[in-house]
Parts: sequence; C-alpha cells; structure tokens
Amino acid sequence: MQEHKKNIGVYPGSFDPLTSGHMDVLRRAAALMDHIIVGVLVNSTKKPYFSVEERIEFIEAAIKDEGLKNVSSASFDGLLVDYLHTVDARHIIRGLRAMTDFEYEMQLDAMNRMLAPDIDTIYFMAEPKYSFLSSSVVKEIGALGASIDKLVPTVNQRIITERLLNK
Ligand code: PNS
Repeated sequence: MQEHKKNIGVYPGSFDPLTSGHMDVLRRAAALMDHIIVGVLVNSTKKPYFSVEERIEFIEAAIKDEGLKNVSSASFDGLLVDYLHTVDARHIIRGLRAMTDFEYEMQLDAMNRMLAPDIDTIYFMAEPKYSFLSSSVVKEIGALGASIDKLVPTVNQRIITERLLNK
C-alpha cells in the first residue's frame, strides 16, 4: 500500500488581528486537511497595528480554546510559495467574502501559480454572518469604544479591546 503523504495546508494572512471570520475558515479547512499552519506575514506593505508576536499569541490562544489539534501557527517572510515549499505544503487556504475579494484573490492566485505550479489554493466562502467582517472593521470599531463581542474569538476579546483602547 502506498504511504499516505500528509496533506499540509498554509492559511496565510496579516491576521491583524485574527477575527471570528478567520476562525470559521480555519475550522472548516482543518476538517479537510491533515495539518494547517496559520502563516502570519511579517513584512507586509500594510503597517500592522499588532506585533507579529501578539498576532501569533491571539492565533495560538484561539486554536487552543477551540481544541483544533491539527493546527499550528508561524510567521513567514518573503514569498508565500517559498514558505509552502519549506514546510512541505501544497495547498494555500483562503477565505472569500464578496466580489471585491474575488478580484484580489484572482490576482494572488495568478501570481502564485506562475511562481509555483505545484501549489494550489483552496477557497472557503465566508459564512454570510461574517461577510462584512474584516480585521480593519474590528480595529476601527474597537478603537471607537464599540463592542467587538462575536467579531473576534471570545478568548481574545478582552486583550484586543484593551490594546485598541490603548490601555
Ligand atoms: O491578509 P492578507 O493581507 O489578505 O494576506 C495577503 C497575503 C499574506 C496572502 C499575501 O500578501 C502574500 O502572500 N504575501 C507574501 C508575498 C508573496 O508571496 N507575494 C506573491 C503573491 S502576489
């Protein structure tokens, strides 16, 4: 019998911070793959609010709280496809909300395909209740004093609220 090669996927992003929408995609992807690595991009053109360490802490706390045994997190720098090769992964995981995401994702996919034809991307449609949700929305309303209850994993709610209010 042929040995089963582990199906490893990387769920990349800025995760500034991880939202409940990200967690929904992660849960569904974890059910499909042997292992998922949540890859936090270090050198983004976007200036992140939370440090890489904080973003990874939020992800680790949520993974633990949800009991997702086959999920881990790590930071990466440089090309995403190069990172996938270093961890022996063949699939990128991405979530799709609206048509605006679609155009951006098509561009990323075309680039990644050109760079690494051995790597493919799996897309998950966001649950409708999260179709409006983004890390930017969380940061904006949280900083203005509104509740981010249900928008980020419960385990991270307090710390993210405090950080956004600069406490
Ligand atoms: O959370 P984001 O900003 O939508 O994630 C974008 C991300 C991290 C997937 C993308 O910017 C990325 O893969 N960056 C790494 C650099 C790279 O590989 N670029 C080539 C594809 S354009």
